[in-house]
Amino acid sequence: PELEKWVDEVPRPGVIEPQGTKEGQPYYEVEIQEVEQDIHRDLPSTTVWGYDGQYPGPTIEATRGEPIYIRWQNTLPDEHLLPVDTTIHGDKVPYDTTSSRVVTHLHGGNVEHESDGKPLAWFTQDFEETGPKFTKKDYHYVNDQPASTLWYHDHSLGITRLNVYAGLAGFYLLRDESEPELDLPSDEYEIPLVLQDRTFNDDGSLFYPTGVSEENTAESRPEPSIVPQFYGDTSVVNGKAWPRLTVEPRKYRLRLLNGANSRFYNLKLLEYDESAGTTGEEGPSFTLIGNDGGFLPEPVQITDRLQLGSSKRADVVVDFSEYAGQTLLLHNNAPALFRGSVGDDAEDTKPLPEVMVIDVEGTEPVADPSRVPSSLGRVPEIPIDSADRNRYVTLATQTDEYDRPVHLLGTGENITGNHLYDPVTETPTLGTTEIWSIANITGMSHPVHLHLVHFQVLGHQPFSDFDPDADTIDPASLDPPRTNEQGWNDVVTVDPGEVAHIIVHFGEYDGLFNDQTGHYMWHCHMLEHEDHDMMRPLEVLPDDS
Ligand code: C2O
Ligand code: CU
Repeated sequence: PELEKWVDEVPRPGVIEPQGTKEGQPYYEVEIQEVEQDIHRDLPSTTVWGYDGQYPGPTIEATRGEPIYIRWQNTLPDEHLLPVDTTIHGDKVPYDTTSSRVVTHLHGGNVEHESDGKPLAWFTQDFEETGPKFTKKDYHYVNDQPASTLWYHDHSLGITRLNVYAGLAGFYLLRDESEPELDLPSDEYEIPLVLQDRTFNDDGSLFYPTGVSEENTAESRPEPSIVPQFYGDTSVVNGKAWPRLTVEPRKYRLRLLNGANSRFYNLKLLEYDESAGTTGEEGPSFTLIGNDGGFLPEPVQITDRLQLGSSKRADVVVDFSEYAGQTLLLHNNAPALFRGSVGDDAEDTKPLPEVMVIDVEGTEPVADPSRVPSSLGRVPEIPIDSADRNRYVTLATQTDEYDRPVHLLGTGENITGNHLYDPVTETPTLGTTEIWSIANITGMSHPVHLHLVHFQVLGHQPFSDFDPDADTIDPASLDPPRTNEQGWNDVVTVDPGEVAHIIVHFGEYDGLFNDQTGHYMWHCHMLEHEDHDMMRPLEVLPDDS
């Protein structure tokens, strides 16, 4: 359907309250339900999957040093909303369970492995059937890491792309005691915004491809069949299609999250005239104050564009004080099939340039006691020479048994890639520091995510310049980290033909994180890729020495 743009106001997801306590700590129960929701004024209501009856789920507000328990309750119906390809890990996944499988991952959470919500810990309604890594019903989030913009989302093996697309995602904002002293815009002036792309059928239902199309008719191909990437034609922000946000002429703190399945966003605010479109004039810039893992040491002005791969977060302040009475457009120039070279992809048939408009009220600035302090968070540099090990990993592509593209993660020994169920190869030891050199030998960019940890980006380099046998990295020879890669990251975008180098400490680091060992994952965060088959175990071993 052709939906009129900018008719609905962006909803705010609201905050969930605990139901009680468990062992003296706040205890939440969150039901995972199928519900009807109004996505657009002119669209019949849409059946979605939501946490606590809503998509996106309610925001969980947590405080550093105050652990919480959450029971994620599966009350979904038996039938999946969307076309399920039962060949994805078909020998490991029971596609005939009575209710749909879920498992909730706290993305960016420095949490015990039993509460990580990893793909193999899925469960059905009333925990009747559970996956091989399921161990407990009540997840424990220790909240012992820097204040940060985390999010929770479904991670069920083989159907993550479908469960998240159906609506299973929400914010988890971790704050610390000193945050109020920063005097950042807060309360109604702090807005979490999850950016997604969706396609709708005329009856309001969510459209997700069956993978059967003219160019895609190999006889052996299963039906439905996973698609290599998904790009929707409609911008959806906080669960509303083509919405508008009304703000006062003052500073706001926006917590931006790319919650799309495959799409990259490359964002800028432009002045906008509703009848004429963009004027081409730039709007206010983003002041980046934090990324995935918490505050940057100091604010960074984004002068070009803010790039967000799937799952990447940006904590920004935008000052609307000089734009009273104007309308702004949140503009995206990332082509659908993102290759790092933005805005110039002639073959891009699925662009999504218009994300949301912002109406700045009034005629002159209003009183604004908030500020952006020059010093924000603590990001001690992890010295390169402290690395105990250099690991060379690859992003690779092959074709699967049905002649479909399949993306894989490889190692220096096997750069063409391993499958999820091949023996674990990434087994860091607790207390050690590793440099990961992530080489992308595919034709597109991939946002690579490690569970459990936050890392620092050392820089990027053309693959042709990379020497896997060198025993150290010379940061002076690298392209420096991009503006949104400073500080603590849990996702790094690796463009085709390049190597991204990251440094990561497993375990407590300078009082900022906590020690955890056990079974986690690392994967590409394009959801169609992580389901098929761009995901590998990450096993943190105890230090036995
Ligand atoms: Cu948000 Cu394993 O991912
Ligand atoms: Cu990928």
